[in-house]
Amino acid sequence: MANILVLHGPNLNLLGTREPDVYGAVTLEQINESLASAAKAAGHSLTSFQSNAEHELVDKIQAAQNKVDYILINPAAFTHTSVAIRDAMSAVAIPFVEIHISNVHQREEFRHLSYFSGIAEAVLCGFGPKGYEYALDFAIDQLAK
Ligand code: DQA
Repeated sequence: MANILVLHGPNLNLLGTREPDVYGAVTLEQINESLASAAKAAGHSLTSFQSNAEHELVDKIQAAQNKVDYILINPAAFTHTSVAIRDAMSAVAIPFVEIHISNVHQREEFRHLSYFSGIAEAVLCGFGPKGYEYALDFAIDQLAK
């Protein structure tokens, strides 16, 4: 049994009502629940954490060291700005998948840069909320290796 941590960055608590044409109608709670049950069905434990605060995400990542086996992270706007969260991910060296609901490459230029893609095992974007499920599928395969 592995421990999987799902991290959601700023404004993702508004999923379901936030720009539904871009991010869909599914709520964060629905995403977290379906991930937890899919992980459980595969014999793993999964917890989710959302914060609008950079330091809280850094603290959560630091606390994951030696406790968490795999991370799924949508850093949201911090994707494009946060050296601090990237450094935390490098420091703990827990393998992770970077997820974006929207296809960031189709959007504004400032969304094209990610501080995370270079250190992620894989990157998923543009699959809508389903991207989280695909990422979990991949993580489960990686954990079985
Ligand atoms: C996002 C894309 C980011 O550019 C944006 O700031 C978000 C969400 C996505 O899931 O598509 O908040 O990470």
